[in-house]
Amino acid sequence: MTPPNPNFSDYGLKASDFGPDFIWGVSTAAYQIEGAYNSDDKGESIWDRFTSDKKNIHQGQNGQIACDFYHRYREDILLMKSMNIPHFRFSLSWSRLMPKGQGTLSIAGIDFYNRVIDFCLECGITPWATLYHWDLPQALEEKGGWTNRAILGWFETYARHCGQAFGDRVKHWIVLNEPMVFTGAGYFLGAHAPGKKGLGNFLPAVHHTTLCQALGGKVLREAVKEGVIGSTFSCSMITPYSRKKRDLMAAKKADALLNRLFIEPCLGLGYPTDDLSILKRMEKYQKVGDDKNMVFDFDFIGIQNYTREVVKHSFTVPYLRSKLVNATKRNVPTTLMDWEVYPKSIHAMISQFNAYKGIKKLIITENGAAFEDTVLNGHVDDPKRLSYLQEYIKEVYRAKKAGLVIHGYFIWTFTDNFEWAEGYYPRFGLVHNNFNTQKRLVKTSGKWYSTFLEGH
Ligand code: BGC
Repeated sequence: MTPPNPNFSDYGLKASDFGPDFIWGVSTAAYQIEGAYNSDDKGESIWDRFTSDKKNIHQGQNGQIACDFYHRYREDILLMKSMNIPHFRFSLSWSRLMPKGQGTLSIAGIDFYNRVIDFCLECGITPWATLYHWDLPQALEEKGGWTNRAILGWFETYARHCGQAFGDRVKHWIVLNEPMVFTGAGYFLGAHAPGKKGLGNFLPAVHHTTLCQALGGKVLREAVKEGVIGSTFSCSMITPYSRKKRDLMAAKKADALLNRLFIEPCLGLGYPTDDLSILKRMEKYQKVGDDKNMVFDFDFIGIQNYTREVVKHSFTVPYLRSKLVNATKRNVPTTLMDWEVYPKSIHAMISQFNAYKGIKKLIITENGAAFEDTVLNGHVDDPKRLSYLQEYIKEVYRAKKAGLVIHGYFIWTFTDNFEWAEGYYPRFGLVHNNFNTQKRLVKTSGKWYSTFLEGH
């Protein structure tokens, strides 16, 4: 049976209610969608290497083909246009543009992104480019990657080349995607590429990333005329498990680590060492002048919110003495990532970031959810994703109405794609992708988003 035509009229909100300047879009990342992992002269990235060890990823999957966006970008951008989506955020693959991470840009790499950018503009879609969404060239990782201070030079060159190559047409730039996640999962837990573990990797990676965040901003501001330069931060509302002093302390530490570690040095507040003393060990990696060089006045700050975390004291967790209480144990609604569905978290984070002085503009650069999707008679009805997005967007609206500064919202993500260590299992897309045939199918949530955006 064909599901009835969706009727979205009862939602009550339209994109236009947020005002004509509010930015609406979708976000993606190179490794998660492009595929063509070794086409032309593309170099190996840490994700190519990490996924080659099958035990690192759910069912031994990898992003070698992913959504084949490398060949299907026109089809996807046209679909985006037909869905009234005005802004498209994608990332540049460093190893596609600089196969060994250093040197000059690859002609094939430049050509590919030129084609994507030009086609976006032709379709009336504004391109937003992220410089770094986690796929470091493997050649640089061999030299220590983010743990090696030389990355400041490598990153500066890469950022400058990108700004010069694309800055005549791409005006919206994001320096880093979620530094806490790629340093934490990649250099402390070993769950993401490059699979390194421990404080001895994590702390230098954090410090060099913080410096590159600001450095990338400065370089882009020089290289891109009238550029709008930002960077993104993962963040989750933190709720203490109980009112006990130990749990309150644990929550404070988790907040410092998960929400404050990268934004505060950028705003000139330094690392949050008062609430997370382990960060004092970072002094070992700091040089004279670094405090100043961690600061940059971004034109906008992107925050990425999916869930909230409930945090409890724990004797057994080294350094932090706090742990996250899994959502499944708390008997709350969850997504396929085992993340709690908690729309008030997005409001709380808008409010937490509003409390900082010096943030000029705030944009939700990612929000979305993975749920089980079934194709039935050529349709994907995804009521849970639909309701998730509607409730989170309502909270954004309430935050705006309450007078908080918020300028835009991007959904993660356009098509289902490669979800890192979880492989292809969690689907976050507004558009279903059949990974065998690469056939795209707009889900009910996607149809709703396009109706919501109509006339904006
Ligand atoms: C990342 C995306 C990821 C999404 C869902 C964000 O942390 O930027 O790359 O796919 O969350 O997990």
